[in-house]
This record gives sequence, C-alpha cells and structure tokens, in this order.
Amino acid sequence: MQEMETALDDLYRIENYIDTFAPGHYARVVEAEDLRNSRLVAFKAMRPEHLSDDGTPGWEARAFINEADLLVRLAASPTAVRLYDCGYISAEDERPDGGEILSLGTNVSAFRENLYPYIGQHWRPYLSLELLPRNNSLFYLMKPNSANGRRRLPTEEGIDLAIQFAHFLRFAHDQRIVYLDHKLEHVYWDGQTLRIIDFNSSQLLETGTHTLDQSLLQDIHNLCVGTLYSIFTGLSPQKGSLRPQPASQSEVEARYADVDHLDFGVEPSLSPSLQELLQQGARQEISTIREFINGLERVAGRHGWELPGVHTMPTLRQARGQMRAGLAHLRWGQEALRTARENLLEAVIMDDINEEMEAELRRLLAQINDALNHRVIP
Ligand SMILES: Nc1ncnc2c1ncn2[C@@H]1O[C@H](COP(=O)(O)OP(=O)(O)O)[C@@H](O)[C@H]1O
Ligand SMILES: [Mg+2]
Repeated sequence: MQEMETALDDLYRIENYIDTFAPGHYARVVEAEDLRNSRLVAFKAMRPEHLSDDGTPGWEARAFINEADLLVRLAASPTAVRLYDCGYISAEDERPDGGEILSLGTNVSAFRENLYPYIGQHWRPYLSLELLPRNNSLFYLMKPNSANGRRRLPTEEGIDLAIQFAHFLRFAHDQRIVYLDHKLEHVYWDGQTLRIIDFNSSQLLETGTHTLDQSLLQDIHNLCVGTLYSIFTGLSPQKGSLRPQPASQSEVEARYADVDHLDFGVEPSLSPSLQELLQQGARQEISTIREFINGLERVAGRHGWELPGVHTMPTLRQARGQMRAGLAHLRWGQEALRTARENLLEAVIMDDINEEMEAELRRLLAQINDALNHRVIP
C-alpha cells in the first residue's frame, strides 16, 4: 500500500463516541466505518491534550506505536482485539473528524518512522480496531444500578474466562509480552468467548533480566486481583464498588501493588479452591503462567471439567453438563426479557395510544426492568 495523505472522510465515516461509560487516559474512541471495505471499527485516536507544544512525541503518543506493535505480535491469538489499520490524523478537535489522514495499514515500522514528522506537524496517532459490542464489556455488564448492588459471573463461566485468559497470557508470556493493565473495562465476554482490548500499557521485555521474571509475576498478580477477583465478587479490590479507572503507565504499575490479600467475605460460598488460588496470586506466589494454569485446572476439575491429567468424578461431569445447559437457558431468558422490553418500548412511544394502554405498558416495563436488574448472569 502506498503511503499518502488523503481526506479522512475518504477513508472513514466517523460515528458516535463509544468510550463514554469507560473512558481511557490516552484516547477517545468512536465507532467508524472503514469505507474501503464497509467494515465497522473502533477508531481509537490519541486525545489532543497529549500533543506537546514543542512538537516532540510524549509517552502517550509512543504508547500508540507500542500498542500497534504488540497487537501485530499477538495477532495469532484468538483473544486479543484485531488491529486493522493505524496512522495519523490532522483533526484538531477531540472528535477525530474531518481533516486529513495518513493510513498505514498494519505496517508498524512505517507507523514508528512517521511518529516524529507527524507529531511535529501536530497530527495525532490513531488505531482502527475490531469493534466489540458494548453489551459484552464486563465493566458495562457488571456495573450495578444501585449503590450497594453488585453482580458476579457464575463460577462455571468465570472459570472458563479465567482459563481463556491464562492461555492468552501463556501465548503473550512466551513472547516476553506482559499485559499488565488488568481491569474489567478491558475485558469482553459473551458467555463463551473472551476478548481483550487496550495494549498500550503492555510491555515487550528484554530476555533474562530480573525485570522479566518480576513482570511475569506481576501480570499474574494483576490478573487475579484486577479482573478475576471482580468477576467473582462484583467488587473492585481497592475501592469496594466498581468504577472506571483511567490510568497512565505509572498508575497501571501502582494500581494493584498494595493488594496482597483479597476479601471474599461477600461471597462465602465461592469455591474455596478458587479463593485459595486467587489469594496465592494476590500474594505473588505464582511465578509462571503454567503454574497458574495448573492451579486453575485443578479448580476446574472440582467443578466437573474434564481436562487431560485432571481428576474429576463422573457425577460432577454430569452436573456440569446440566449447569451449562441451565446457564445457556438463563442467557436466552435474559435476552428474551430484553426483546420483550424493546417490543413494549416501541408501543409506548407511539403518539396516539390512549392513557389506559400507556399505563399498562409502563407497568409491564417497570416489572421487566426490575427482573433485569435482578438478573442472575451479569
Ligand atoms: N475495540 C473496541 N471495541 C469497542 N469499544 C472499545 C474498543 N476499544 C476501546 N473501546 C472503548 O473505549 C474505551 C477506551 O479505550 P482504551 O483502549 O481502554 O483507551 P486508553 O488506552 O485510553 O485506556 C474502552 O474502555 C472501551 O469502552
Ligand atoms: Mg484503557
């Protein structure tokens, strides 16, 4: 592909912001259509306040190159979000709309080489990413709608998610890549498949250093504390209830540093073997991802999972089959409630309905909302 500048509008149709419920420190993210292939994407552009006055790239701008580089290295993983395109845009407003664009595809070296010249002209880096549905954002799903409310994933789904996450980290760690920025905002889950976004605080490390071992350990610690604790309790490890946590690199490193113990008091029935594994992670006693996977598989065995080299009883296996069937029905049921709500909402906004009809529609809608607020699966 030839590198050249063109009008942004020729390549992308820019739509609404999609980051408002979970804003990031580095970027604003909008939905967009890539007009070259009609694909919908998440268009992640650096916030204009990270442009420096002297025209040299700050660490936020360099983080975009880092993210593109890591996404290309991790492209063979089914879990990392896809990178479609990267480059620079000239738009001055925060909303990345209008002006010009330099689109470089997934050519990370061209992205890196153009950093100084384009930042020098006050253009901003962007990434065009696979668009993930907001309804699968665990932060969005698990956010309670009352002050003391909380939601948690069923243990069966949480184990599934944890195993997929651990396999992703094994793939990354084998390449000396650490993810580090573990939080629900970055985790997408549809009940079956895990997807992960935001790699700009992640790192590719040098071989054979103390930092490498320490970072691998820290990555496992952050996974246990920052994501897995929250999915099994609905709480954040430091602050109680869930809140978005935009963060810079140093904040990412400090965020969970003090957490060496997890409070499972709110979920006393949560699998003791799982609690113990997460506590070990919190105490930084799990130094390799393989060790963590072994631990997880032992927990999974106690929940009826059939895995090579893991003991499970036939009855447990059968019970797990019923569990999966039940959870699938629950998800359908919740979906059906949402569809019913849409049906009634269509009716309630009709102009010429009478008061009797409207009152009944509103009564039903309130009941449906109540049922959905008390849903079993986040
Ligand atoms: N690929 C994507 N699909 C859908 N939403 C996304 C995607 N990438 C980012 N977002 C939304 O934008 C927010 C900020 O993006 P993120 O990559 O975390 O930016 P930052 O690097 O500034 O933290 C996310 O919390 C999420 O809500
Ligand atoms: Mg982020």
